[in-house]
Amino acid sequence: MSPLLLEVRDVIAGYRPDLPILHGVSLHVGTAEMVTVIGPNGAGKSTLVKAIAGLVPISAGSVAVEGTEVTNLLTHKLATASIAYVPQTANVFTSLTIDENLKLGASTLSKADAGRRIAKAYEDFPALTQYRGQKAKVLSGGQRQMLAVARALLTEPRLLMLDEPSAGLSPLMVSEVFSRLKTLIATGVSILMVEQNVKAALAISDRTYVLAEGRNRIDGDSAKLAGDTEVAAIYLGAGGRKR
Ligand SMILES: Nc1ncnc2c1ncn2[C@@H]1O[C@H](COP(=O)(O)OP(=O)(O)O)[C@@H](O)[C@H]1O
Ligand SMILES: [Mg+2]
Repeated sequence: MSPLLLEVRDVIAGYRPDLPILHGVSLHVGTAEMVTVIGPNGAGKSTLVKAIAGLVPISAGSVAVEGTEVTNLLTHKLATASIAYVPQTANVFTSLTIDENLKLGASTLSKADAGRRIAKAYEDFPALTQYRGQKAKVLSGGQRQMLAVARALLTEPRLLMLDEPSAGLSPLMVSEVFSRLKTLIATGVSILMVEQNVKAALAISDRTYVLAEGRNRIDGDSAKLAGDTEVAAIYLGAGGRKR
């Protein structure tokens, strides 16, 4: 059993104190583990990753990274807590160049570290190199997702959280982005990913949590859940999408 990198316990959270969206959600992510969160639209998946990232207030429960409680820490402090978060939309600045986007992601680093890690980002994401001086709006959806991931990695997080990285991508780009994420796992980074693409999520991840109406519904090994009729039932239910 790998040590727990992230432990979320009985989290109650929402945008207004009187209106909780998450009603006591728990999950954990081990070192170098890839975990996905799936569930119908409105289940609270985005709210969950935002709560972990400190962007939605948690009124009860706890979030711990390597045993240290980080509940309600502001996002800019998350870098020191080793978590990076790539939101679902608006995750790159389209009016800035690729270089400028990366520099922004490295703004908390020393100049030497920033230079070294940005050079490494271009090495790791060679597709970005030819566009470095161009505005991010020239990039395809998949390339933007790669840029968002490259930028998130500049602070060398232990845990990368992504909200629907496959949204709007062609099947070919989905497999390219996912296989890139898989290589990150090999470097010891852990991933917590929200996905609507249930089939792809179950195929790539180690474990999966199903959320429904702000609660844990089912969880387990992804390969096992892929054959689970209850998982299929949730996606055929109200608000769900069949995949
Ligand atoms: N910024 C917000 N302010 C208030 N309510 C929100 C906000 N964002 C989402 N919600 C509500 O929270 C619930 C869960 O949304 P969300 O976490 O986005 O679900 P999912 O990502 O699973 O589709 C929904 O009822 C949604 O209307
Ligand atoms: Mg969402």
